[in-house]
Amino acid sequence: MRPIPTRTRIPILTDLLEFRQMVGDPLGFSKDMVARYGDVCYIPVPGVKNYFIHDPEIIKEVLATQSGKFCKSRMYRALKRFLGEGLFTSEGDFHREQRRMINPAFHKQRIQEYAETMVDCTLNETKTWIEGNVINISEAMVNITMQVITRTMFGSSLELDLIEKVSSIITRLMVIAGKIFQNPLYILLFEKDIRTPLIKEFYELKKEAFSIIDKFILDGRNNSHNERTDLLSMLLNAKDEDGGKGMSDDQIRDEVMTIFLAGHETTSTALSWVWYLLGTHPDIGEQFYKEIQETIGHRKPEYNDYQNLVTTRNIIKETLRLYPPAWTFAREAKEDVTINEYFFPKGSLLCTLTYLVHRDAKYFKNPDEFRPDRWQGDETANLPKYAWFPFGGGNRMCIGEGFAWMEATMILAIIASKFRLELKKGFTTTMNPGFTLRPKDNIQMVVSKVYN
Ligand code: HEM
Repeated sequence: MRPIPTRTRIPILTDLLEFRQMVGDPLGFSKDMVARYGDVCYIPVPGVKNYFIHDPEIIKEVLATQSGKFCKSRMYRALKRFLGEGLFTSEGDFHREQRRMINPAFHKQRIQEYAETMVDCTLNETKTWIEGNVINISEAMVNITMQVITRTMFGSSLELDLIEKVSSIITRLMVIAGKIFQNPLYILLFEKDIRTPLIKEFYELKKEAFSIIDKFILDGRNNSHNERTDLLSMLLNAKDEDGGKGMSDDQIRDEVMTIFLAGHETTSTALSWVWYLLGTHPDIGEQFYKEIQETIGHRKPEYNDYQNLVTTRNIIKETLRLYPPAWTFAREAKEDVTINEYFFPKGSLLCTLTYLVHRDAKYFKNPDEFRPDRWQGDETANLPKYAWFPFGGGNRMCIGEGFAWMEATMILAIIASKFRLELKKGFTTTMNPGFTLRPKDNIQMVVSKVYN
């Protein structure tokens, strides 16, 4: 067995001194640990056998090859009170069966149908933009992705005021859930059912959101003969392997909430970073606008454009490398596990350092540079599989990856076909690693041109 380097620790003193850094600057803390101890290190924290994993080979074992020996971490178990037994939080055979039933809702053909909704929602959000406007692009991306998920979930014929109502309740609920589930103290209070004002508000919003979703489910059941193609009707019609039993209403509600949670903030965060990087790299911005002008001009983009937007997709890929929304995720060992001669006892918490692997000079030349063209040609052709893994891996890999690619590409394409945006003069920001790796400040762009 190989010994695992361990953070040296003076009990209580180290914990107190480092706790602030761990919570206040987790990226700096983990970078520091990797620099000191290497690709695998043990960071004992009172009550948790905590390991940082920075090696693509070991990450592959954890997420894919030996995934059966791991389950999701304690944070996910706390999330169960919110998302019940949805895809994100369920385990084992139950998860496998749910995933099998839900997969068809994310097939290529479905995503093709959602592409038009993605374009329409973007047009709706941007219809008031005029030349000279300063746009809070982060907020705009949240609004668009929330509209997209609401309309793809419940049907594109949904009235605008209902979309806005559902969106605003769920957005607020997500903000509060983010505050609770990224704070170990709140997770503890939540687990003990101690109702602080924030937790109380969480339960009130949850009740409101659930009652709206339940009504949609009831309507869907009563109108099952309609030829609907939205996500909800796919869930309502899904059948288990024997083709008999479908999902219960409670189960469908859990999956709806899960897809809202998992599928909204990740994409809007990634898009915020795309705009920031384009704004801070005007030469790459030029290449992006040129591609959109040449491929789409000023018409509405459509599904078939996706494959031709190579520069745009490389920009998204490179943004997901530099700012992976899921900047770390964790697995807990259900039993003793040995990987590459490292021994992890039962109960160990293995945290992938996705953000740091993505910026490792072993895999990427000048790793902190934003260079979308690194994804063309040979430079990245032979990367280890888990050197770039913003969508996770193995049987828990993001089910919405294809959806997210289409959504991000369509939103960027429609905006660039109608407007030119520049970063507001003097605007800079940095990272705020919480539930997702968000920009610390809302990104401000100026509309410098409008095409008719
Ligand atoms: C840029 C956008 C996105 C990123 C970076 C992202 C990232 C991820 C990651 C890393 C995981 C795995 C987490 C883990 O293993 O612990 C995951 C799971 C998941 N994602 Fe995404 N995601 C994105 C967009 C979406 C979208 C658009 C949807 C749905 C519409 C979605 C739905 C889900 C679901 C349901 C899971 C749980 C899958 C399972 O455990 O079987 N995601 N996502």
